[in-house]
Amino acid sequence: MNHPERLQRRVSARMADIDTFHVVAVVTRAKELEAAGRSIVNMAIGEPDGPIADPIAEAGIRAIRAGLVRYTGGLGIPELRRALAGWYQSRYGVAVPTSRIAVMPGSSGALLVAMGVLVDPGDEVLMADPSYPANRHFVRTVNGRAVCIPVGADSGYQLTADLVERHWSPRTRVVMLATPSNPTGTLIDFDEMRAIHEVVRARGGVLVVDEIYHGLTYGRPDRTALEFADDVFIINSFSKYFGMTGWRLGWLVAPEDCMHDVEKLAQNLFISSSELAQHAALAALTPEAVAFHEQRHEAYRAQRDFLLPRLREIGFDIPVEPEGAFYIYANCSKLTQDSYGFCMDVLEHAGVAIAPGIDFGTHRAAEHVRFSYPKPIPVLAEGVARLERFIKR
Ligand SMILES: Cc1ncc(COP(=O)(O)O)c(C=O)c1O
Repeated sequence: MNHPERLQRRVSARMADIDTFHVVAVVTRAKELEAAGRSIVNMAIGEPDGPIADPIAEAGIRAIRAGLVRYTGGLGIPELRRALAGWYQSRYGVAVPTSRIAVMPGSSGALLVAMGVLVDPGDEVLMADPSYPANRHFVRTVNGRAVCIPVGADSGYQLTADLVERHWSPRTRVVMLATPSNPTGTLIDFDEMRAIHEVVRARGGVLVVDEIYHGLTYGRPDRTALEFADDVFIINSFSKYFGMTGWRLGWLVAPEDCMHDVEKLAQNLFISSSELAQHAALAALTPEAVAFHEQRHEAYRAQRDFLLPRLREIGFDIPVEPEGAFYIYANCSKLTQDSYGFCMDVLEHAGVAIAPGIDFGTHRAAEHVRFSYPKPIPVLAEGVARLERFIKR
């Protein structure tokens, strides 16, 4: 408690375990270079490109004009919760009661609430290394212990039932999966996910599945864990497929008997999600907006199909074809043994911003970088040409 460093810094001991996103250093430097007149091809940040769908923008403007800019109930406006239940029915053929759907401020809000509801101090949460960096920090925030399990190309950079079984300890409480994954863009095989659920259920734990990149797959269709289980926590968001990152809106599907606790915690943490964003999100689910999202999805497919072979040609090793999200996780060990230094050098000398592996864990992080490809193909082509010149210099 009276640790001198703590007194000096006035912050909790926990903060020593919370890392910044290293990609922010890359992006900050990229902005400085741009401000100084340099042209930068930015493939670092995981964000959809291009305009927002018209129906969303118009619904947002209508909501502002109608004064729909207040707090709502902690679980979201009933119309949006019902519309999301309709989404599960029409997209997946799964009946999810509206009462189990909680609208949250981004899937970030949903992840924090899920961890708060499920994890006691000292409880262990199993997750893949590499995976989305904030997850281990959500766990740390509620004083749990993230157990990051090294995964590689052999399992498509995903956990398996066998890995979960082998890492299970008396303190394990939660297993987190993301399919498609950030940073690898890989999907977890549906039968494997079912097998993981069996292992978790048999041991009295809870499975949390982050489905934020659903809608953005390029071969196999999306299948939700809700198809086979109603005791899972599902995380989703309007950020990626719907292209609404800055509106800060997502949702959580939880078991019925947890909903009261979800509501209590969400009320206390956030009071509510943005009313304005919720009305805009209603429009995001309409056929007109979905047609727009699908066009963008097809553009991502073309961008992936363009970038993947070219990265391989210039020396990146990509052993597992990314089938979802908008990322390519590439092994750069033929080019460097220090992916962070490589990202910084590539930015300074080639004008290309990419994310270093260290952001996503520690397992072979120095050998990997992540490319985010929602960019027009000519921009990606320019990025690859610059990288090639840099590598061959
Ligand atoms: C796997 C994953 N989960 C959750 C999030 C958080 O997204 P948001 O809070 O915008 O819904 C991200 C953002 O990149 C992500 O990649």
